[in-house]
Order: sequence, then structure tokens, then C-alpha cells
Amino acid sequence: MKPAPALQQIPSGVFCAGDYEAHARRRLDANAWAYFSSHAGDGITAQANLAAWQAIELLPRMLRSAAGPRTARELLGRPLPWPVLVAPMALQRMAHADGELATALAASAQGAGMVLSSQASLPLETVAAAVRTDVDRGPLWLQLYFLADRGATLDLVQRAEAAGFEALVITVDAAVRAARPAEQRAGFRLPAGIGTVNLPPPAPAGRLSLQDMMAQAPGWADVAWLRARTSLPVLLKGVLHPGDVREAVALAVDGLIVSNHGGRTLDTAAATARALPAALEAAGGTVPVLVDGGIRRGSDVFKALALGAQGVLVGRPVLWGLATAGAAGAAHVLRLLRDEFEVTMAQCGATGLADIGPDLLVR
Ligand SMILES: Cc1cc2nc3c(=O)[nH]c(=O)nc-3n(C[C@H](O)[C@H](O)[C@H](O)COP(=O)(O)O)c2cc1C
Repeated sequence: MKPAPALQQIPSGVFCAGDYEAHARRRLDANAWAYFSSHAGDGITAQANLAAWQAIELLPRMLRSAAGPRTARELLGRPLPWPVLVAPMALQRMAHADGELATALAASAQGAGMVLSSQASLPLETVAAAVRTDVDRGPLWLQLYFLADRGATLDLVQRAEAAGFEALVITVDAAVRAARPAEQRAGFRLPAGIGTVNLPPPAPAGRLSLQDMMAQAPGWADVAWLRARTSLPVLLKGVLHPGDVREAVALAVDGLIVSNHGGRTLDTAAATARALPAALEAAGGTVPVLVDGGIRRGSDVFKALALGAQGVLVGRPVLWGLATAGAAGAAHVLRLLRDEFEVTMAQCGATGLADIGPDLLVR
């Protein structure tokens, strides 16, 4: 990894979150860039995520109250200053020496939620301690996978509870890992000194076969098992099919995140903006439904809410900001999105989140 610059300045000429991508690409070496930018297969889903938000047209209302938009809501019993959380993303010290700590501080400073990946490159206790007592921060959640060793999974849950995490996000769409061409071409390897410090060391056997992965893959019974062993709310991330939404609701999970892992797992899986309406219908308002994948503009956040999502997660753009200028860059990305979201609200005549409904979208 190239050494981080001493001064973490926001580059000039950055006017939207997407402007950070080119800066990040220049800043990172080929190995790290391959990891952060890669997608499964031909990248069809990764592209479709973006295109699906772009294709939704707004139908704004005019001449409404000029009162400044109110963006706060409650989510799982906690205030969320505006409906955005940073998506869980592994190994952020590969993007910047300050890694997940910088991202958490950025999220907190901008009132966004933070979902820490269980594959984080810093101890989860360190990250939580840095932001837990911040007054105006958003929710602090820990993402986890079912580990092959269920006892180790429980250890992680107990550490999350003790460290002050407020919910658990179980990612269910990556039990079987797909090859990612960009990583293969770059011969991706973990840089020395960076690893998934919160997890037990990987089995010495190295790469798992498909059979091994299937044998270890969790099922609905595992969700019920975990649900019964934690006092924290449990959300499932990576659900697309309405049938899975119904299964999850029947198991009394506390929330769902409609996601295709940013197109990093199953290529040609549905774009999340297109899967969201049926997922919301299946949930029937019983649990909060969030969505991620391809959110690049404040207007995308607005569209997700207009479809009925309670909030969105933002992935790669935050990494671009982090790689470019550490905590300041990640915070700037979130600020730009928030400003755009508020402007979109004002332009569409929405003074509060309750005003953002499907009537503001072209059917
Ligand atoms: C580099 C990278 C690492 C990721 N690591 C994880 C992870 O550890 N756990 C997880 O649930 N999702 C992970 N994701 C998926 C994100 O949480 C999220 O679903 C996705 O990035 C959203 O799409 P977007 O990047 O287009 O915003 C990762 C995504 C990226 C780009």
C-alpha cells in the first residue's frame, strides 16, 4: 500500500460522491483497487443497480411550504438524523491506514449510521468506543456472517453486545463465494499486516470447495437460533425474493436489507431498486425494510424512500472518500449526499420524510 499523505485534504474539483472514484483509483495500488471495485461475473448487477435508480423518474410537487426539510426518523427505537447508513465493507485499512475508525468517525460526524463489517481490519471494540458516546450519531450496527463454528459466531455476538453495538446485521447472500474477475486478474492478496482481526484465523486448508461452502451454509434454523441468543435486534441483509421476506417476517426478525451485495456475489441478480417493491409488499409494513446497491446521489436516497424503504446503505462511495482523504473524505461524501437529499426533498415539496411517497415517482 502506498503511504498515506500527511495532509488529508479534500481535493479540489469534487462536487458529488461519484467524483471521488477517480481520486481513489489514483490513490490506491492495483491490488487494493481490484478488491474495492470488483464485482461478480461481468458486473451486470453492479451496473444494473446504478441504472435502476437512474431510471426512476421523479414527479415533484410545487408551491409547497418552504420550511427546511426535516430528515430525522426513528429506526429500531433509535434516532436516525437522516436515513443513511454506511454499508458494511471489509478490510478498510486497505483503503486508508485509519480504516474503519475513520469511517465510523465520518459517519458519526455526518449523522449517518455505521454498519461495521465483521471482516473489519480494526477491533470492533476500538471502533465502537470511538463513537459510542457521540450525541448526534446515527445507529451503530455490527454485520456478521454465520461462521462455520457457531460457537465463534456467538462469541462475536457477545462482543458486539458488550461493545455497545445496537443491532446485528446477518448477511445471508454470501455463503457461497463467487470468483471476482478483477481480483483474479490482479492476483489479489491481503497486504502484510492487514487482516480480519475480529474473526478466528482462517482454516489452514485454504480455499473452500463448493461442497465445503454448501455444507457450512446457514439455513433459516440458524437465524432462529441466533435470534434466541441475543438481546439485540437482528436484521437480515441480502434478501431479494419476496418468499424470503415472508420467511424472515415469520421468524420475527427486526428488519431487512434488500441487497445484492453491490453486485459482488451473484451476477445478473436483480437490481435492488427493482426488487424492492415486491419485498416491501411481502413485508407488509411489519418490519423496517432498508435497501442498498448503487446509491450515488441524494435523489437515489429519496427514490428509495418514496418506494417505501425506511433507509438506505451506501457502500463504495464512502470507500472512495476514505481512500482519498481519510475521515475527512468519507465525511465529505456523506455530506454531499445529505445536501443533495435535502435539496431533492425541497424541490419535490417534501418538508418531512412522511411527505416522501410513491406519488412523487412516475409509475
Ligand atoms: C469492498 C467491499 C467490501 C464489502 N464487504 C462486505 C462485508 O464484509 N459484509 C457485507 O455484508 N457486505 C459487504 N459488502 C457489500 C456492502 O455492504 C453493500 O451491500 C454494497 O457495497 C452496496 O452497494 P454499493 O457499493 O453500490 O453502494 C462489501 C462491498 C464492498 C464494495
